[in-house]
Amino acid sequence: MDHSAFYDESIKNPEGFWKQQAESLDWKIAPSRILESSQNGSHNWFADGQLNMSYLCIDKHIENGYGDQVAIYYDSPVTQQKEQITFDKLYDEVSRFAGGLVKLGLQQGDTALIYMPMIPQAIYAMLACARIGVIHSVVFGGFAPHELAIRIDDCKPKVILTASNGVEIEKIVPYKPFVDEAMELANFKPKSVVVFDRKLGVEIPHKAYDIDYDELLAKAPKAKAVVLSSTHPLYILYTSGTTGTPKGIVRDTGGYATALKFSMKYVYGADEGDVYWAASDVGWVVGHSYIVYGPLLNRNSTVLFEGKPIRTPDASTFWRVISEYGVKIMFTAPTAIRAIKKEDPEGALLKQYDLSCLKYQFLAGERCDVATLTWTKEKLQVPVIDHWWQTESGWPMLANMVGVELQDVKPGSASFPVCGYDIRIIDEDGESCKPNQEGYVLVKLPLPPGCLLDVWNNTERFVSGYLQKFPGYYFSGDGGYIDEDGYVFITGRVDDIINVAGHRLSTAEMEEVVASNKAVAECAVFGVHCELKGQKPLGLAVLKSGVTVGETELSQEIVKEVRHEIGAVASFKDLLVVKRLPKTRSGKILRKLLRNIADKDEYQIPSTIDDVAIIDEIENVYQKNNIGIFKTKQHE
Ligand code: COA
Ligand code: AMP
Repeated sequence: MDHSAFYDESIKNPEGFWKQQAESLDWKIAPSRILESSQNGSHNWFADGQLNMSYLCIDKHIENGYGDQVAIYYDSPVTQQKEQITFDKLYDEVSRFAGGLVKLGLQQGDTALIYMPMIPQAIYAMLACARIGVIHSVVFGGFAPHELAIRIDDCKPKVILTASNGVEIEKIVPYKPFVDEAMELANFKPKSVVVFDRKLGVEIPHKAYDIDYDELLAKAPKAKAVVLSSTHPLYILYTSGTTGTPKGIVRDTGGYATALKFSMKYVYGADEGDVYWAASDVGWVVGHSYIVYGPLLNRNSTVLFEGKPIRTPDASTFWRVISEYGVKIMFTAPTAIRAIKKEDPEGALLKQYDLSCLKYQFLAGERCDVATLTWTKEKLQVPVIDHWWQTESGWPMLANMVGVELQDVKPGSASFPVCGYDIRIIDEDGESCKPNQEGYVLVKLPLPPGCLLDVWNNTERFVSGYLQKFPGYYFSGDGGYIDEDGYVFITGRVDDIINVAGHRLSTAEMEEVVASNKAVAECAVFGVHCELKGQKPLGLAVLKSGVTVGETELSQEIVKEVRHEIGAVASFKDLLVVKRLPKTRSGKILRKLLRNIADKDEYQIPSTIDDVAIIDEIENVYQKNNIGIFKTKQHE
């Protein structure tokens, strides 16, 4: 199929294009109203259509005779467990879990929070909620109780669904105790906590609100999939914004199902029945879309991998999984490849396995450096596709749509806009940028199906964050440019969000924690280059006068506080004490300058800076702590 004709059709005639794509789903009531403006300034898709996501991911395949096909390959090198879960078994688990939730009093429109490691019960929980119209909100396991509590207070879940523990390489992560702590911290008190005991030999304290997962399911009747409106929220997924509080991205049902089904075929080139593996976590959008809903909708066998690219047990684990389950399409973050490459630069471990099943390797979650892309291509000998998207979009916005037509790969570029996304590069004044000129990456409205409906409980934040800056466009928060051949290059965030090992984090949240230490007068947290994780956070603190605490002691204390308040996932390990911070004359801290100095980037000292001598002080501190030194500098 010709890619440009297909893409052009999606932009010229979005209603006709997506109406046709929606026909690939089994709707209970097919939509007649395709695209409508929504009150918040965005759009709704398929407003009068009715369907159920859990039905489409499970029951439909059984009705079509695929009950004995493997739906989930669960592979856990950290607990030495493997399980092949068929669609029949998935039906049994999910419908009984849903029945159990109904018995607990959950009804359509209620919310439930899921805080679980990478175990099948996490997928059962998501699909059980979807089955009865309960809106789930999955929280990534690397977040601390305080972050969990913020989300509990925002989405007010009737129940929390959790497990006794997680396992990070060989460390036991206390999931249930974290939930207990969050329950104390939160103002809103969920009615019960359903606990799946993994029986890992660790004692977990019991609370009055606990419900044992096995007991709940043993007595639960199987629940049927309820028929839901297309715009019924399937889930809320919190993501980092530019303020200290995360925002709850709200996803619909019908638009999302249409977009995912479309993307499995046309973006990833997956045929029904193929094995598809996204090596991410159910707590991130990649996990929602491409571990759970996308592959299961498309009757693919999905791999649920509870491990890391290295050390579980070594850098061959990805290749073992691909060959063991016959993975055709694999998706991971560049960080994971960098970790493997560091351990096994020649790719010797890869040669132990027959990887002939693998057709495409997809990468996303962060900027993919050319060296990583080239290494992967050379070792795997398959097309390596960098593609760009975000929690808000829910599915790729830029990609090489291999299911339509494989285009030449340009390293460094995530290729072309995906059908439905009218991507524009616009400058500060709202003017279109010329080829190769960097600007803001925007999407002309309407967004295609599957993108965010709103921000939970905060339409104002939705409007101000995404729609207000450039009226008529969705503002992605990323910068980039389009080259003379139409390839789009994403250069990074234009705000204070950083990307650490493919995990999106807010520096504003970290700054709040650092600033709350009683010794700190003011501070700045920003992302600096990291060989492995792409970026890592660095904090600079100015102490209150009279504070006598030692620098190392204070630094360790603050690192511990960030870990306690935000979680291990923040990877906040470096806090340096400085005498003062560079600011503009109006008092704004120059974070970008601080970052550029650390990254050894070329930088200009802004003419607005209040005191140029501070730069030398900062350079000295960086040098002393091996953070990196400047290459060139010049005055404006
Ligand atoms: N539950 C609890 N803790 C978690 C966690 C989870 N689900 N995931 C990560 N953590 C903890 C880790 O144990 C680690 O804690 P530590 O500081 O005590 O060691 C911390 O959070 C940072 O984790 P991570 O960023 O994973 O770093 P790492 O050094 O353990 O591993 C990599 C490095 C590169 C192997 C790892 O980051 C990786 O696999 N990256 C790929 C990322 C990815 O798939 N991203 C998804 C986006 S598509
Ligand atoms: P998240 O919402 O966690 O998926 O993070 C989305 C952000 O990650 C985007 O806004 C980008 O900044 C970054 N990102 C994701 N994929 C890519 C990519 N392929 N290239 C560059 N940046 C990416």
